[in-house]
Amino acid sequence: MSERRLVVGISGATGIAYGIRALEAARKAGVETHLVVTPAGQQTRAYETDLSARDLAEMADVVHRPADIGAAIASGSFRTIGMLVAPCSIRTLSAIAYANNDNLLTRAADVTLKERRRLVLMVRETPLTLAHLRAMTAVTEMGGIVMPPVPAFYLRPATVDDVVDHSVGRALDLLGIEQPDLPRWGE
Ligand SMILES: Cc1cc2nc3c(=O)[nH]c(=O)nc-3n(C[C@H](O)[C@H](O)[C@H](O)COP(=O)(O)O)c2cc1C
Repeated sequence: MSERRLVVGISGATGIAYGIRALEAARKAGVETHLVVTPAGQQTRAYETDLSARDLAEMADVVHRPADIGAAIASGSFRTIGMLVAPCSIRTLSAIAYANNDNLLTRAADVTLKERRRLVLMVRETPLTLAHLRAMTAVTEMGGIVMPPVPAFYLRPATVDDVVDHSVGRALDLLGIEQPDLPRWGE
C-alpha cells in the first residue's frame, strides 16, 4: 500500500470541477486518492457535469460512502499525507469547525486535524456572514487551511479550466504534491 495517500472530500458547494481536477492531478502525481462525496456533492455533480456517479468514482483509487463511518479514513492510524475538501460547502466547513463528525467526510477531516496533518478546505460561498467567518477562524486556529478558490488574473487565464487548474494546483502545493505543470510567478 502506498503511504502517499490523499483523502479527497467533495461536498455540495458549486464547483465540483475543483474536486475532479484534484483527483486527476493527484493520480498524475502518483498519489493514492481516497474519495468521499456527500449526497449534496452528488447533486452538484449531476447539475454541473455529464459524469455519472460511477465515472466520478473511477477517478479515485478508493471510494468510501459518506455513511461508512467505519472506513479506513475514519481512523488516525490510517496514514495519509492529508485531506483536501474541494469544493467545501459552508455546511461542511461548519461541521469541521465544531467537530460535528456526522458523516465520513467530516469525520475524516476531524481525524486529519487531530493527527496534525494538513487539511485544506476550498470553501466556496459569497458573500460571507459572521457565522461563516467564525467557522473559518475556528478551523484556522486548529491548523486547517481555508483556501477559497479565488482566481489569479495576473496569469491571464483564458478558459475556466485555466482558472480551476491554477486553484487546484495551489491547493495541492499546500499538501506537498508535485505540480510540474503549474504556472508560477517568476519561474
Ligand atoms: C447547485 C447548488 C449549488 C450550491 N452552492 C453552494 C455553495 O457554493 N456554497 C455552499 O456553502 N453551499 C452551496 N449549496 C448548498 C449545499 O449543497 C447545502 O448546504 C448542503 O446541505 C451541503 O451539504 P454537504 O456539506 O453535506 O455537502 C449549493 C446547492 C446546490 C444545489
